[in-house]
This record gives sequence, C-alpha cells and structure tokens, in this order.
Amino acid sequence: MFSVPQPALLYWKSLPATFVGHGAGTDFQQVIRMTQTTPAAADDAPIQNFSNCHVGILSHLKTFGELPALLAPAERARKIAADTLAFFRDAVLEHHSEEERDLFPAVIASSVKGPERDRVRVMVDQLTAEHRVVEAAFRKMEPELKKVAKGQTSELNGEAVDHLVRKYMAHAAFEEAEFLPLAHTILGRNGNHMAALGLTLHMRHTPNFVGHV
Ligand SMILES: [Fe+2]
Ligand SMILES: [Fe+2]
Repeated sequence: MFSVPQPALLYWKSLPATFVGHGAGTDFQQVIRMTQTTPAAADDAPIQNFSNCHVGILSHLKTFGELPALLAPAERARKIAADTLAFFRDAVLEHHSEEERDLFPAVIASSVKGPERDRVRVMVDQLTAEHRVVEAAFRKMEPELKKVAKGQTSELNGEAVDHLVRKYMAHAAFEEAEFLPLAHTILGRNGNHMAALGLTLHMRHTPNFVGHV
C-alpha cells in the first residue's frame, strides 16, 4: 500500500482544493512534482506589471498610513491660529490701549519734573513705538493667519512669526524689569495716584459702568 510520509502529508493537505482535488485517484507524487517544477515562462511581463502595481499601491498606502498622525497637529495649528486672532484683537490691543491711555500718562503726570520725567518720557516713547511695530507686524500676517484658522493652505511666514514672538517677549520683559518697577515707585509715592489708576482700570473692566458716562 502507498505510504505517505507524515510531514509531506501535512503539506499536501494544506494545498488548495483546486490543486489537489482532482479525484480520489490523484497521485501524490505528481502533486509533489507540480510544487517542485515551475513551467518556464515565455514572457512574465504581465505578472511583473501586477508586481509593479503593488509597488505603487504600497507606496501610496504607506503615505496614507501617516495621515492619522497628521490630523492632530493640523487641528492644533488651526486652533492656535484662531485663538491668536481672537487673543490679539481682544487682549493684546486692549492691553496696549490701557497702557497708553491710563498707565503711561499717569506715570508721566506723577513723575518728578526733571531727569525722572525725562526718563519716563523716553521709556514711554520707546514702549509706544514698540506697540505700533508689533501691531503692524501682526496686521501684515493676519490674512495668512486667517487662512490657517480656516484650515486653508497658507503662506504664513515662519520667520515673521518668530520675529514677532521674540519682539514681544523683549517688550514685555523690558516693561516688567524697568518700566513697571519705576511706575510702582512713582505712583506709590502718592496713594491717591495709585488709587486713581486702579479706579480707571476697574471702570474700564466693569461692563456697563453707568458712572463712567
Ligand atoms: Fe506694552
Ligand atoms: Fe504691557
């Protein structure tokens, strides 16, 4: 009786039915020979075409696979742009306005005439000029920032953004280190002057303050 070695039998059983299902009389040795000999292909171009297609498909799929990881940064970019537009309009411009309408005049008015007042004026002129520079820089990039906020293609200038951020950080640092301590000293000499500034700011930040009319 024909005997089949166990490893070979397992392989034979794993072959597709179309390959081995030619009736009970299929010669196992023939099956083995079929797996061992590949007919010489006269022209394998069609098969190569399929293979080439796979190269292109797999390349695109690899790129497609990167998409989910890019959605979160894209959404973050859109949100940062939208927040910056609102923040600049509602907070930064208002901050500049308060400094120029309330703080700077109050410090100048309370300073001692002479070198101190001259110093305050120089600082106020510099800070006010820096406000205009930063605002102009922001307005210039605003259209591109709006495109980013809408998720549209934008040509936002990275160097311009970096320049504005560094410029503003230097401006705020100078105010913190130089101007505000001086303002505190000058206004602190007279409690009424400090209280007057505090009241002015309070009135501005209180909605519908009837007494301000
Ligand atoms: Fe400022
Ligand atoms: Fe400031």
